[in-house]
Amino acid sequence: MEDYQLTPLIPAKDLHKHVDAVAARINLDYADKNLLLIGILKGSFVFLADLMRLLTVPVEIDFVRLASYGTKSETSGKIQITKDIELPVQGRHVLIVEDIVDTGTTIAWYMERLRTYQPASVRVCTLIDKYERRSVEVPLDYVCVRIEKGFVVGYGLDFSEKHRHLPGIYEVQFNQ
Ligand code: IMP
Ligand code: MG
Repeated sequence: MEDYQLTPLIPAKDLHKHVDAVAARINLDYADKNLLLIGILKGSFVFLADLMRLLTVPVEIDFVRLASYGTKSETSGKIQITKDIELPVQGRHVLIVEDIVDTGTTIAWYMERLRTYQPASVRVCTLIDKYERRSVEVPLDYVCVRIEKGFVVGYGLDFSEKHRHLPGIYEVQFNQ
């Protein structure tokens, strides 16, 4: 058992304000369009559920589950789809919804794959942009919160499948 503590980082009410602001931007940008939201499982489901209920544009929802091989704290770049989307993407305006972008490897890989299906457009919406370790440049079109580093949980994000249910974001502090 790893020994760690959780320190509050972003309270739920602050998160909701950021999600509201991003939803407002999406509503403006896609005012005359039909939107296809693709949530990356599992981490994005809480964010996506809150975000979609603030959207006023016509929207469809789908999910993809990506597995990446690597250590617990860093993705290796070898990514596999363990559950694919079911809706057609060709000609659609796609908004990928992610929980957190760290190195950028996962989102860059998935964007490449989506492009082969010839969508009308692809943008990225992430709850958290964790920028210090970014190694692949990816345009993050909609960001709720930016943090430099650290491992965070809550509001859908996990550490070894735990803490997804917490309403706010917490930082994991490992005891030496
Ligand atoms: P990337 O490919 O390095 O950008 O890693 C992105 C994925 O790693 C995210 O979709 C998360 O599943 C996971 N991840 C990265 N940082 C954290 C974190 O601080 N908490 C929980 N999951 C994280
Ligand atoms: Mg994830």
